[in-house]
Amino acid sequence: QFKELVFSGVQPTGNLHLGNYLGAIRQFAALQNSYNCVYCVVDLHAITAKRQDPKELRHQIREVTAAFLATGIDPKNHIIFNQSQVPEHAELAWVFNCVARMGWLSRMTQFKDKAGKDRENASVGLFAYPSLMAADILVYRATHVPVGEDQKQHLELTRDIAQKFNNDWAEDIAAQGFGDMFFPLPEPLIQGTATRVMSLRDGSKKMSKSDPSDYSRINLTDDADAIATKIRKAKTDPEPLPSEAKGIETRPEAENLVSIYATLTDTSIDAVLKEFGGAQFSTFKSALADVAVNKLAPIASEMRRLMDDTAYIDQVLAEGSGKARVLATETMNGVKDIVGL
Ligand code: ADP
Ligand code: NA
Repeated sequence: QFKELVFSGVQPTGNLHLGNYLGAIRQFAALQNSYNCVYCVVDLHAITAKRQDPKELRHQIREVTAAFLATGIDPKNHIIFNQSQVPEHAELAWVFNCVARMGWLSRMTQFKDKAGKDRENASVGLFAYPSLMAADILVYRATHVPVGEDQKQHLELTRDIAQKFNNDWAEDIAAQGFGDMFFPLPEPLIQGTATRVMSLRDGSKKMSKSDPSDYSRINLTDDADAIATKIRKAKTDPEPLPSEAKGIETRPEAENLVSIYATLTDTSIDAVLKEFGGAQFSTFKSALADVAVNKLAPIASEMRRLMDDTAYIDQVLAEGSGKARVLATETMNGVKDIVGL
């Protein structure tokens, strides 16, 4: 019943990193041959955790857009835009705030992590973040969502919201001629061996934009020296690498570096360990640095080139927003007819 469509988003909160690339952005370009794709710079999400400096936020919106373009997403045949230019996201999120239950949102682990101990002081927006994410996806009635593991729970919530909307208004949906379901139940696309890239300083934490240590992550804008230094300084254990995957499962830092290598070279962890089994980390790290520099340096230099042409980036976002708005308006009109607004 639903046309296949991919939607995904990245927050313009600075420090785009290797985890964002391997867990999400790398898939974005690959999917455009098989699906119609909508890729969004989710700027409304970026203000949920804390006040952002306005100039810096505008800069980061362009930087995420540059990353989309530099990794090969085609803005002519697909849609690249920023969320705040399409007001239907926020409008549908309000309806979803009235569909989602307090108990559902209270169980979200990302809210618990981001709010920390001082939950009374977290913004209402941070709590309601998953309703907005559900609206981002469902305002396009997207069927597939490429994300890292950390977003799996939010995607399950998106399905719950879609299902409850479909059930609560089932008769009205049918009466308006939309059939059994107005919203599809979107599927996550969690692909590859590095769906959860860990911090280079602590194998128990995911690599993240907000980690205070610069050495915890490789940024997409890092130059070759910075990449090599961060990999050289990455935390490891004293043992050499094992020759098969079984030997690495209890060694999170080692497993993280090996799975980064495997993903960057499109092979498996087993294949990497077959090659490097018995090697010391000093040897493996310099091979990893070469691979990472080879993959990331061209992206960084293309991002720099694009960031010098902000008029072009702004034009991509304006055109993309116009195309997105046509789709979003159609869905929102349907929602209003169904709900009686
Ligand atoms: P962050 O979590 O770094 O603030 P976003 O929330 O903007 O970044 O996430 C953008 C995409 O990157 C999402 O699909 C998310 O699942 C993915 N992602 C974020 N961190 C990682 C990580 N450490 N490993 C794999 N994927 C990640
Ligand atoms: Na995230």
